Amino acid sequence: MPSLLLGVTGGISAYKTIELASRMRKRGWGVQVLMTESATKFVAPLTFEAITARPVHANMWSSGEDFDFPASRGIGHIEIGKTADVFLIAPATANTLARLAAGLADDVVCATALAGHAPLVVAPAMNPRMWAHPATQENIETLRRRGVHLIPPGTGQMACGDEGIGRLPEPEELENWLLAFTSTKDTLKGVRVLVTAGGTREPLDPVRFLGNRSSGRMGHAIADAAARRGADVTLVTTQPSTAPVGVRLRSVNTALEMQAAVHSVFDEQDVVVMTAAVADYRPQQAATSKRKKDGETWRLELVPNPDILAELGQRKGKQFLIGFAAETENPERAAREKLLKKKADWIIGNDVSRLGVGFDSDMNHILIVEREGPVVEWPELPKRDLAEKIWDLFLQRTTR
Ligand code: PMT
Repeated sequence: MPSLLLGVTGGISAYKTIELASRMRKRGWGVQVLMTESATKFVAPLTFEAITARPVHANMWSSGEDFDFPASRGIGHIEIGKTADVFLIAPATANTLARLAAGLADDVVCATALAGHAPLVVAPAMNPRMWAHPATQENIETLRRRGVHLIPPGTGQMACGDEGIGRLPEPEELENWLLAFTSTKDTLKGVRVLVTAGGTREPLDPVRFLGNRSSGRMGHAIADAAARRGADVTLVTTQPSTAPVGVRLRSVNTALEMQAAVHSVFDEQDVVVMTAAVADYRPQQAATSKRKKDGETWRLELVPNPDILAELGQRKGKQFLIGFAAETENPERAAREKLLKKKADWIIGNDVSRLGVGFDSDMNHILIVEREGPVVEWPELPKRDLAEKIWDLFLQRTTR
């Protein structure tokens, strides 16, 4: 049965998480509760202890034994997240979101989140004006970029009398969200997955490079979803700072570095997903010192980079090979051409001409071209949701 780490912070809706803990326990889940000091002003730790049959951790200074982890097995707030399947912070107050975004670690909830083993989910709840404040929205955006999952607040009347967005969803909704989130657990267990992500950077001199707008978000979402489904994931990325937890990370900059990293592990893989925007050309020679401004035209000679996906297509044995195609017109036709040319099993086309989708955005609109059968197309969706749909479809196609 899955195990839930439940971080409760100081908001009036903290009472709803008592029912949530009870519902999850009735389903047989293990539930471990962590509380901030302010949360204990709204609900008593004893209530959670009675429901979960485990001690509640409400401060940083409990001994290892209090955490059910003997000191010989490590530091409580670091160890405690290691075995959970999901870490839900509910309600997550505006203050907590700010502290998580800033990486603060002086309460047990934020410290455990920072130690970061289990996938982190936040369910914000606050006054509508606090929710709408640019500071809160920027913090949410920062957390999302780092791979934190969000259960959006509902709309309605608040305890303070104001109406608007900011309500903690009802316990049943939180329960359903958790069930859906963990339903895919282990569906990729034993599968070895290699994902590439981000735009390569081709140096002009020690400080300048030719690059593109790929943020790595699409690839990181795919790697994260695979890891949460139990796959053994290697992620080769140019954006290591936003990589998800639970993957084997290989940080690269250039197309040649990506080529070497990918080839060195290719034989061991079952599935390869090339989401990276690999530069097709690189400067023939990078200057060894910074070029000075001299008022002259700077002419560049560019030479072609290797086509990594096409090379993998040639080498391919049992591997299932998925490429992406970033297109500004007719993504289906271009994806089909690339499928044949690069000998991939799927090419996922995305139209990158539209603002707000594709490069450097949380959203994407994709279609999947397979070797046989009609094109599969999904509407514009968050990249995280698309990553789940991609793996669902992969499982449908490969486990007949
Ligand atoms: O990173 P994000 O901001 O989230 O944006 C995601 C994305 C738009 C970058 C992603 O969804 C995407 O479309 N990635 C592929 C971008 C691309 O380089 O497309 P392409 O049509 O040039 O290449 C086709 C395929 O060949 C890709 O799988 C690419 O990884 C691969 N390729 C391309 C060139 C090259 N020299 N070697 C390669 O392996």
